[in-house]
Formats: sequence, structure tokens, C-alpha cells
Amino acid sequence: MRKVLVVNGSPRGDRSHSRRLVQLFIDQWTAFNPKDIVHYREVGKGNLPHISEDWIAAAFTPPEDRTAEMKETLGLSDRLVDELLWADTIIAGVPMYNWSVPSSFKAYMDQVMRIGRTWKFESGKPDGVYVGLLENKEMYLVSARGDYGYEPNGHNAHMNFQSNYVKLVFGIMGVEDIREVVLENEEYGGEQFSHSIKKAEGRIQQLLSKRFKTLKEPLR
Ligand SMILES: Cc1cc2nc3c(=O)[nH]c(=O)nc-3n(C[C@H](O)[C@H](O)[C@H](O)COP(=O)(O)O)c2cc1C
Repeated sequence: MRKVLVVNGSPRGDRSHSRRLVQLFIDQWTAFNPKDIVHYREVGKGNLPHISEDWIAAAFTPPEDRTAEMKETLGLSDRLVDELLWADTIIAGVPMYNWSVPSSFKAYMDQVMRIGRTWKFESGKPDGVYVGLLENKEMYLVSARGDYGYEPNGHNAHMNFQSNYVKLVFGIMGVEDIREVVLENEEYGGEQFSHSIKKAEGRIQQLLSKRFKTLKEPLR
């Protein structure tokens, strides 16, 4: 039995393509593994606060020196980090907004990028070497974009501050096994977009059949 954390980053509901693909992924995942536990974390609806001066002061105070107020300030962040530590598999749906991630998803990453909980400095003090504390996790990133060509060597590759950034941040937190499902071309619509949808859905099928055929142990 695996624990799956679903993080949806689109501000859109039913119109969101990343949400639909994430749900398709989860439906197929749970068809393979009906006993897995799936937990949803809503992020895209602007429901998470940005970090504040008090938050920063609390996060960078050693845990043993934190006041009750500081602990309260970090309460939500701690819960979000606990969810990540709990999960074996993370699936995140993230649109590209202005070549980066929606600000609500950035707020989420700021909340969970926590010194001493999800990462640390190798020597224990600032030394420029980050050690991730999220161990043994796999991540599936569903990226939705209006334009195309953001893959490495694509004509828009230099403007991809979305999936490259998400991979960097989660990589620093220790999540190194990250596979991506990409949906592009939304702004063009028609045949061009239909082709992208088929390609993204095919990628989900391919990832899941590969994932579950290569398991060394039978699924429980
Ligand atoms: C505010 C805003 C900014 C966007 N910026 C970009 C962009 O920089 N590059 C791009 O390719 N698409 C951009 N798009 C298109 C979205 O990435 C596309 O609509 C995607 O499908 C959104 O994800 P969703 O369908 O899950 O909501 C933008 C859309 C919005 C609403």
C-alpha cells in the first residue's frame, strides 16, 4: 500500500487541463492499486498564505528556541511538510503562468522549502551545499501550457521557468525521481491541441504501465 499526495496548482476548476490529467492519472493509478491511500492538497485556489516576516523569523529559529507563537506561525507549513514526508508518491498539476508557476504554487513551495525539515546545509551552517531531506519519493509533474516548445532544445526552452523550476526546488528537497507529463498548445486549440491532449494521455498510460510492470514485488 502506497501513500499518494496529489497537489493541484491550477486556479481553475473544471476548465483546468492539468487537474483533468492529474485525475486521469490518479484514476488509473488506483485502478492498478486500489488499496493505495490518496490525499488531495489544494493549492491553486489561493488558499495558502505567502510567507511573512514572522514566518521567516520562526523558520530560521532553531526548533528548541521557538516560542509558542512561532510554533503557531509555522503550523500550516509544518502540516504541509508532514504531508510530503508522509507521501511515497507526489503528483502535482502545475500550469505555466508567465513562464513560471502560478503564484499560489510558488506560495506552496515557499511553505514547504523548510530548513531542517525538507532540506539542510551539508555542514549544518551555510556552506552552499544543499542536502534534501525528502527521501525515497517519486514525483509525477503534470505541466499545462498554452504555447509549445519548452522542452530541452525546443525554441522556447530558455523561457521554461516552470517545470525546470519545480524540478529544481523538489530536487533540492531530495525528490530526484521526477517524471513529467506535458500538455501544450492550449492557446492554439483545434487539431494542434487535440494532438497534445492525446500525447499527454498516452504519456500517462506509458508511465503507469512501465511503473507497475517493473515492480520487483507484487502489489498488495
Ligand atoms: C495568467 C496566465 C498566464 C499564462 N502564461 C503562459 C505562459 O507564460 N506560457 C504559456 O505557454 N502559457 C501560458 N498560459 C496558458 C496556460 O499555461 C494554459 O492555459 C494552461 O492550460 C493552464 O493550466 P490549467 O488548464 O490546468 O488551468 C497562461 C495562462 C494564464 C491564465
